[in-house]
Amino acid sequence: MQILKKIINIIERNFCEINENLLNFYLSLLSDENHNNSVTVGYTSNVTPLIDKDKNDNTWWKVYSLDEKGRNTLRILEDKSMISKGTTGLRTWEASLRLSEYFIQNPKLCKGKNIIELGAGIGFLSLICAKLGAKSIISTDVNLNVIQRLYTNIESNKPSLIEENLTIPKVKKLDWNEKVLDINAYGDLNLIICADVIYNPENIEPLVNILSQFLKLIPTITIILCNPLRQKSTYDLFLKQLSQHNITIYKELIDKVPIIFCHDEEFSQIQMTIINKKD
Ligand SMILES: C[S@@+](CC[C@H](N)C(=O)[O-])C[C@H]1O[C@@H](n2cnc3c(N)ncnc32)[C@H](O)[C@@H]1O
Repeated sequence: MQILKKIINIIERNFCEINENLLNFYLSLLSDENHNNSVTVGYTSNVTPLIDKDKNDNTWWKVYSLDEKGRNTLRILEDKSMISKGTTGLRTWEASLRLSEYFIQNPKLCKGKNIIELGAGIGFLSLICAKLGAKSIISTDVNLNVIQRLYTNIESNKPSLIEENLTIPKVKKLDWNEKVLDINAYGDLNLIICADVIYNPENIEPLVNILSQFLKLIPTITIILCNPLRQKSTYDLFLKQLSQHNITIYKELIDKVPIIFCHDEEFSQIQMTIINKKD
């Protein structure tokens, strides 16, 4: 399985399409391994997230520590497998971890800002923004199982956020296919964040449409999208759609930011695509 993982990583790094059968086979092995509770997680720093294994199902609580003493933590209920219940949204992905680390390194990007996260999954990144002193956060997704888990995770971290006098992210269902945005719900926003949402070619057009709607509503808004360098063709499609909407971008790799959280042993490079970059 480790060899297969290395092969898949090499394919991704070279921007090639992964054969679907190969990927499904890998996911089935991963799922078996996870069900046996024998998954090994490599920790790459002295700040070690604890993992309480729940033997009964496909989920576990991960405790992410934001300081070396483990006093400032986030508790996130995650699926062990990459895809379950037909969605990728029930676990935290690499792009969220890296963008969080980038924000921790550059806290002024979040502090005092009104933020919306699109395709938030189970809320790790939104909760990090809360920890960094965002003024408000709207955490959105489309999938109902994902939204339910998002609530659970926000509720689970609410007591510590209240204790620290920090904002509690609000959960909202937002489908990128929505044709008209409600201006009253979003008028104050400064920042849109999206982690690992550029992966399905079918979703690219709706995603760019919704970004374009936000930009029309709030021309000064900053948008930060963060994604692993996986399928070049999908990212190219994203760029093409942006240019059709006359949206210009700035690209930056997250490669120099120190690693804080637990990552897979070998992870793809993570890229940020920024719209309306402020220095
Ligand atoms: C790969 S997951 C990333 C989750 C999270 N951002 C992270 O990095 O851990 C992609 C997320 O996009 C969401 N998504 C997919 N299509 C969507 C749509 N049309 N509208 C809103 N969210 C969508 C999925 O439900 C899923 O939670």
